[in-house]
Amino acid sequence: MSNSKVVDVHTHVYLPRYMDLLRSRAEVPRVILDDLGQDRLVILPGEDKESSTKRGRPIGDEYWSMKRKLEFMDLHGIDVSVISLANPWLDFLPTTQETFEFATALNQDLSTVCTSSDAGGRLFAFGVLPTLSPSASVAEVHRIAQLPHLRGVIMGTIGAGRGLDDPELIPLFQAIADAGLTIFLHPHHGVGNEHFGGYGHSLSLALGFPFETTVAVSRLILSGIFDRIPNLRILLAHSGGTLPFLAGRLDSCVAHDPAVAEKLQHPPTYYLKRLYYDAVIYHDTGLKATVDLVGADRIMFGTDNPFFPPLKGEKHVTRWMSVDKNIEAVKGVPGEEKVWNGIMGENAVRILNLK
Ligand code: URA
Ligand code: ZN
Repeated sequence: MSNSKVVDVHTHVYLPRYMDLLRSRAEVPRVILDDLGQDRLVILPGEDKESSTKRGRPIGDEYWSMKRKLEFMDLHGIDVSVISLANPWLDFLPTTQETFEFATALNQDLSTVCTSSDAGGRLFAFGVLPTLSPSASVAEVHRIAQLPHLRGVIMGTIGAGRGLDDPELIPLFQAIADAGLTIFLHPHHGVGNEHFGGYGHSLSLALGFPFETTVAVSRLILSGIFDRIPNLRILLAHSGGTLPFLAGRLDSCVAHDPAVAEKLQHPPTYYLKRLYYDAVIYHDTGLKATVDLVGADRIMFGTDNPFFPPLKGEKHVTRWMSVDKNIEAVKGVPGEEKVWNGIMGENAVRILNLK
């Protein structure tokens, strides 16, 4: 895909400082050692209830090593990555000074990694916030804004504990917008897990995660936040969950509920069109729906590394199917080289100012 830059905007790392915390914990989220001495990451709700062999997922240094991240980038032709801490971020920690200082330390770690000579200018980052305390988060936003390679913050959907439409979060959203930072909105809990039967984590990740994003963003829109803060910039994980597909239904159901509709200046789709979307959806059908709704110039390639590694072969030298599926999906978007180059990286360079 020509000489233009390939940028991965959805790529995680469990920083060593965060790994230490996960290893020290007796409850989810935690890292445990299995009978074979293999680290297992146990982070999703209910994962601890499974039998010990199935608990969590096996992990290696691709989850915390920046050397591995750069190798992964080289293997897949990725020039630049915007790294973020993976779920569940700080959402399980108490609102104490210690947690606030932990957030500051993690953001400083991200900055150090991005500015290191090993990174060679190829890394940027989304920082992390103690969102359960909106006021501490505002203070952290001001610090993040001073870090040269940080471009925004990754955020889950719980906010201060009551969802993202909580009025208590308005000053935080305002501070993020004022600082010119982008929110990378990412699911963790899943919606509907109780309906998914006994199929491991497959349906929670495939369906529950995108439903969580769908619900959180719909509530955010209906709260009127984008009328209040028009320059609030949000990048949605997994191509916006199911929002591109359900946008018409959202518009219609809101229009038929005047008490809800009258609180908004526009139909929900108007606001959806102003958001940004990653391309982590693995099929061109879903990606085309997203392009159709918001235009190809608001969509950015991602990998979700280090999740979804190859199940066979040496993961440090074998190309990852999960990555190739997302590249194929981009190539399946009708258009020309300019459109694909935009999604693969040029949009991210422009939108996130990665020069
Ligand atoms: N599983 C997770 O828990 N998080 C991701 O980002 C991807 C898969
Ligand atoms: Zn992810």
